[in-house]
Amino acid sequence: QSETMTDQHGRSINYLRLSITDRCNLRCLYCRSCEGLKMLPHDQMLSYEECLELIAVASTLNISKVRLTGGEPFIRKNFLHFLERILDAHPQLDMRLTTNATLLGGKIPALKKIGIKGLNISLDTLDRAKFQRITGRDFFLPVRGAIDQCLDYGLRIKINVVAMKGINDDELAAFIRLAENQPLDVRFIEFMPVGEKTVWRPDQVWTSREILQQAQEVVQLKPVTESGKRNGPARMFEIVGGKGRIGVISPMSSHFCGQCNRLRITPDGRLRTCLFSDKEYRLRPILRSSKLGREHLRRVIIRAGKIKPMGHEILAAQGRQGSVCRKIMSAIGG
Ligand code: GTP
Ligand code: 5AD
Ligand code: SF4
Repeated sequence: QSETMTDQHGRSINYLRLSITDRCNLRCLYCRSCEGLKMLPHDQMLSYEECLELIAVASTLNISKVRLTGGEPFIRKNFLHFLERILDAHPQLDMRLTTNATLLGGKIPALKKIGIKGLNISLDTLDRAKFQRITGRDFFLPVRGAIDQCLDYGLRIKINVVAMKGINDDELAAFIRLAENQPLDVRFIEFMPVGEKTVWRPDQVWTSREILQQAQEVVQLKPVTESGKRNGPARMFEIVGGKGRIGVISPMSSHFCGQCNRLRITPDGRLRTCLFSDKEYRLRPILRSSKLGREHLRRVIIRAGKIKPMGHEILAAQGRQGSVCRKIMSAIGG
């Protein structure tokens, strides 16, 4: 039986983000605070069986879109086989991935065959030397190659650029050219203070408003309004005369919380109802219990979804505790 999930603010929840590992093969500067932090022991991470059980439960709650994230999801062994099992069990599911694309090369035909509809690729620079400075690793060429393969095979991609003043604000035109010449989306995400030891500084925030103003000096932009309401956190714009689109995600300067439709699960099986709320619901003990069944899991998810917070007070939180949440992105899944 299927039941729709609506929270106390009338938002319907139909999107699940499942982070399947906290491990990553890059060391991005905004994520480096994780160095020295303990990685989850393998037995605390949800097994693929447990993830499948969660997705099965979610699908009875009208969750129609699942995004797998990490860390870096392609780090997990037999990941492609796992994707295949998910789509075998739920052929209607809109399955997406967020990846750093370092391990993607050569896997695109398989992903297409499995039925993946699109990939979000994190890439903050188009310059090889700078890539190494930002991520700590010299993997720019494989990532760039994988992007070209996606385009060759017609797999939709969105490139996520964390917008950082003094770091990549000199590359706006280069990213715009990429979206102008290729049928892909480039989305600039405002740099957020995530994680207790974040390197974030207010003067590094390159706001969406500034980005759009500067972009309009380079190309003509036409807003994409998806039937009047926004479909996710990004505001997208067509480039007049170009093939692709650019967009901005503005967690710092404006809120899309009013339309938020998502739940998140951490790699160790904790349900988070908001990226910026440290309130977590431990699902792993339920998944591993021999007594508590699927119905119990469903009830816990429904109850947690109901009291999903209305939004975040990112700047207020800054003043209070220095960072909006204790965990870093790789432990939540973005
Ligand atoms: P689609 O809209 O399905 O393409 O996914 P997405 O853009 O939400 O997914 P992606 O993993 O590419 O996330 C991009 C970035 O958007 C995340 O890393 C966050 O920075 C931001 N973001 C995504 N979801 C939320 C959210 O619920 N709240 C806030 N404040 N930011 C979010
Ligand atoms: N601010 C904004 N975006 C971030 N990401 C990771 N940390 C931050 C941060 N502090 C982005 C990654 C990826 C997405 C899942 O989250 O680059 O594109
Ligand atoms: Fe890896 Fe993403 Fe963190 Fe970069 S931001 S180190 S790609 S988890």
